[in-house]
Amino acid sequence: MNYRHAFHAGNHTEVFKHMALMLVIESLLQKPTAFAVLDTHAGLGAYDLASSEALRTGEKAGGIERAFATPLSSAPLYWDVVNALNGTELAVYPGSPELVRSVLRQDDRLIACELHPEDGARLKQRYKGDRRVSVHQRDGYEAIGALLPPPQKRGLVFIDPPYERTDETRAIANALRTGFRKWPSGIYFVWYPIKDDRFGQEIAAAALSAGFAEILQAEFCPHPRDGTSLAGSGVILCNPPWTIDEKLRLLCQELAPILGGDKGSWGVEWVRR
Ligand SMILES: C[S@@+](CC[C@H](N)C(=O)[O-])C[C@H]1O[C@@H](n2cnc3c(N)ncnc32)[C@H](O)[C@@H]1O
Repeated sequence: MNYRHAFHAGNHTEVFKHMALMLVIESLLQKPTAFAVLDTHAGLGAYDLASSEALRTGEKAGGIERAFATPLSSAPLYWDVVNALNGTELAVYPGSPELVRSVLRQDDRLIACELHPEDGARLKQRYKGDRRVSVHQRDGYEAIGALLPPPQKRGLVFIDPPYERTDETRAIANALRTGFRKWPSGIYFVWYPIKDDRFGQEIAAAALSAGFAEILQAEFCPHPRDGTSLAGSGVILCNPPWTIDEKLRLLCQELAPILGGDKGSWGVEWVRR
């Protein structure tokens, strides 16, 4: 495992992905019954934006640094957490487990999986006093088969892999097939990077062939899709919450002028079998 997420924390793909994630969490919070989130590829939880890794790539400059300066009305929960962590000076970027953990109620649960031994140990240490959170140093794809459905019977599986394996989309396809079999009513959220159309098409096809009748696909690219460089990223949602499509459109509309240039693009579409 060579991938270290600290190099990329707070870049434009992170900002879009995490804003979308928090829109889903916001919908789950609307009902009083408890929910569970399985974060299959959790990372470290929080990232020091002044670390040597973050400074080496400088990726935050095209992402959270711009977004922090212009709070968005379409991503209120995301803002609450980022602001609570930072105050007026941007110093730390929250990863997915931190974003989710920050808004859990007493009976909600977060199960976070991280395969990297050092990062998994650090994540365990970070949340060791929080009984709502369990951290597993294990393969998150395999956890889908082992840990679903959760006792709460409602919630989200957040799949955010590093795409360093050549067979990543095959692993995602297997995970979605297992997920649909074990917990067909769960919400599944899969993130993918966009250089060209390949990952988006493969994951959408995999979700439909897993058994989901329709999926929501949202793509946000601040840069041109030239087929070689990182243009942006996308998310695929299976069993998405009601009205999330409209919320994602509002988000993209508001985010585009902040993160995007003239050659950026975005789209939010339903895809059906
Ligand atoms: C893109 S990062 C995740 C970032 C995190 N979800 C967030 O939003 O802050 C991917 C993480 O998955 C970990 N990882 C890679 N393969 C894994 C696997 N099979 N199971 C669990 N974690 C894995 C990597 O070590 C890395 O920390």
